[in-house]
Amino acid sequence: MEKLRVGVLASGRGSNLQAILDSSIAGRIDVEVAVVLSDVEDAYALSRAGAAGVPAVHVPPGRFRTKLEPEIEKQYIGILLGYGVEVVALAGFMRILHDDFLDAFPKKVVNIHPSLLPAFPGLNVQKKAIDYGVKWSGATVHFVSSGVDSGPIILQAVVPVLDDDTPETLAARILVEEHRIYPEALQLIAAGRINLDGRRVTAGPATTTGKSR
Ligand code: GRF
Repeated sequence: MEKLRVGVLASGRGSNLQAILDSSIAGRIDVEVAVVLSDVEDAYALSRAGAAGVPAVHVPPGRFRTKLEPEIEKQYIGILLGYGVEVVALAGFMRILHDDFLDAFPKKVVNIHPSLLPAFPGLNVQKKAIDYGVKWSGATVHFVSSGVDSGPIILQAVVPVLDDDTPETLAARILVEEHRIYPEALQLIAAGRINLDGRRVTAGPATTTGKSR
């Protein structure tokens, strides 16, 4: 199968990036990480990319705190397209993307979020889950739409919330599942198995070439 060219956007430590790189390098998924982009100069994700021989590019975000400046977002699109990226995977990327970005990769931008969406979108969600008193939380891989953490759900994994959990212990339990389902979701896309019907994502049989993706 032809490998799906994935561009990863990350702002921090990049453990999800590492899980994707490991699965890709081991040949468990038909994915090649074509480039890693970060808005943060010293993001550890960039070092991980470099160590794996993947181009690692830092592009400063400009003057906004939660978004990229529109001109800079265009640079991100240009770099990703320049590396032949077909799918963009957000992995701890701390900036909201504009519609122009999403339009450049229609239905091809995915994100991982450490809760069972639609519960607890946004930030500090492990603390929110504990404070709310839910007994189960988890991880969600979803397509990115213009709302925050609100696009169609591809895969979810569930973990228990224990009585003595802190945000850190819950985050660590969820992270194990994140590292499992993010590569798995990318493989569904790579194999051309994703059917999107409104908000509903179903996984069809694998195609031999993955080309219906
Ligand atoms: C993960 O918990 C992910 O779900 C969230 O940000 C965190 C990124 O962690 N979007 P890492 O940089 O992949 O280690």
